[in-house]
Amino acid sequence: MPASKLVQTLTSHLKIGEIDTDFNNIICNNMIVFLIGFMGCGKTTLGKRIANKLNWQFIDLDTYIEKMQNATVSEIFQNEGEHKFRIYEQTALNEIIKTENKTIVSTGGGTPCIIENIELMNKNGTTIYLKASYSLLVNRLKNSKKTRPLIKSMNQVELPIFVLKKLAEREPFYKKAQYIVDTKSIELGAIVKLINEL
Ligand code: S3P
Repeated sequence: MPASKLVQTLTSHLKIGEIDTDFNNIICNNMIVFLIGFMGCGKTTLGKRIANKLNWQFIDLDTYIEKMQNATVSEIFQNEGEHKFRIYEQTALNEIIKTENKTIVSTGGGTPCIIENIELMNKNGTTIYLKASYSLLVNRLKNSKKTRPLIKSMNQVELPIFVLKKLAEREPFYKKAQYIVDTKSIELGAIVKLINEL
């Protein structure tokens, strides 16, 4: 199914079964599905729900890196810097691609913004961009800054400016995904709830 059709199907109307069918159509052809999008767009929440529904494995890339390095993402940023974190991120992606199947992977907000990574994911799995509105992202991130080193110390003025700039910078990469799910017209929570109630 072409991406534009999927977006349309997912963002308007919708009965529960249709969402199920769409996700199954995408997922059946590829054994790894990568959820991509900005921090706070809901990749982990939705990823867990889809995996659960399909009886697939779920991997959160940040958690995978934390286990691999025996340190939290915040600690890695603080002690080794963002560049090193990006190297770990790419190593983790490669490992997952080599070893896993029937897996939903929720990536970090910056993962696909390195050109090799988005190409790697597109080549070895299915990529879905969870597109959330600017205001939704800012509101969500205001309440979940602690574990996110890039925004941890930002105040009420700095955060919205950061999101605006970063989103503009990153969207061209996110848009390289094979599918785009626009969460503007359907609340992500509603999608999750619908899938969960199937
Ligand atoms: C990052 C997003 C985080 C995490 C790291 C960097 C980013 O993941 O990978 O803090 O560059 O946007 P989430 O998108 O799950 O918050």
